[in-house]
Amino acid sequence: MPHTLLGLSGALRAGSTNTALLREAARLYGADSYVQANLNLPLYDGDLEDSAGIPEAVNALVAQIAEADAVLISTPEYNAGVTGVLKNALDWISRHSEKPLVGKPVAVMSAAAGRAGGVRAQTMLRTCLVPFRPRITLAPEMGLAGSGGAFDEDGHLSSERTVASLAALMDVLRADVES
Ligand SMILES: Cc1cc2nc3c(=O)[nH]c(=O)nc-3n(C[C@H](O)[C@H](O)[C@H](O)COP(=O)(O)O)c2cc1C
Repeated sequence: MPHTLLGLSGALRAGSTNTALLREAARLYGADSYVQANLNLPLYDGDLEDSAGIPEAVNALVAQIAEADAVLISTPEYNAGVTGVLKNALDWISRHSEKPLVGKPVAVMSAAAGRAGGVRAQTMLRTCLVPFRPRITLAPEMGLAGSGGAFDEDGHLSSERTVASLAALMDVLRADVES
């Protein structure tokens, strides 16, 4: 069966190492189709929701999650936690009448400048995902340390060990999708 993956990156910048990590993950998964979600959403504001409803970009995001066989989420670590971009997206998703993450196979990862690879943010991300009731892969844990120097000029991970870890995580995710 064809496998479609959706990537949610906690960083908006074009050169984001989290976005690059997601692309590598999709490549190692062997996805037939990989789409990166747009998390450049308005800040959640109850007044905006009351006056204008759920923004179109959030509707589109929810539909993309529903259509994907699996979701990849990668977060930078900002001050020991997840980014506002990612938390804001989760908060909007939670306001939608559809619950697209329930039972959805999800792999979480992090990429950060620090030596711990953003594991504090990743732990927080796992906690933030609990209300959405996805099927999160538990292991192996993928936290890319020193992420600014981890990719070659073609955007591939330069360390064979890191590639092996990410490929192992994708194997677990694929098995979950196929189960
Ligand atoms: C506001 C802010 C806070 C940060 N806090 C941390 C931190 O707590 N731990 C860490 O390892 N790196 C921290 N960094 C550095 C990020 O890990 C680094 O910028 C990383 O490349 C961000 O991910 P990206 O490449 O996907 O944008 C911080 C960066 C910013 C902008």
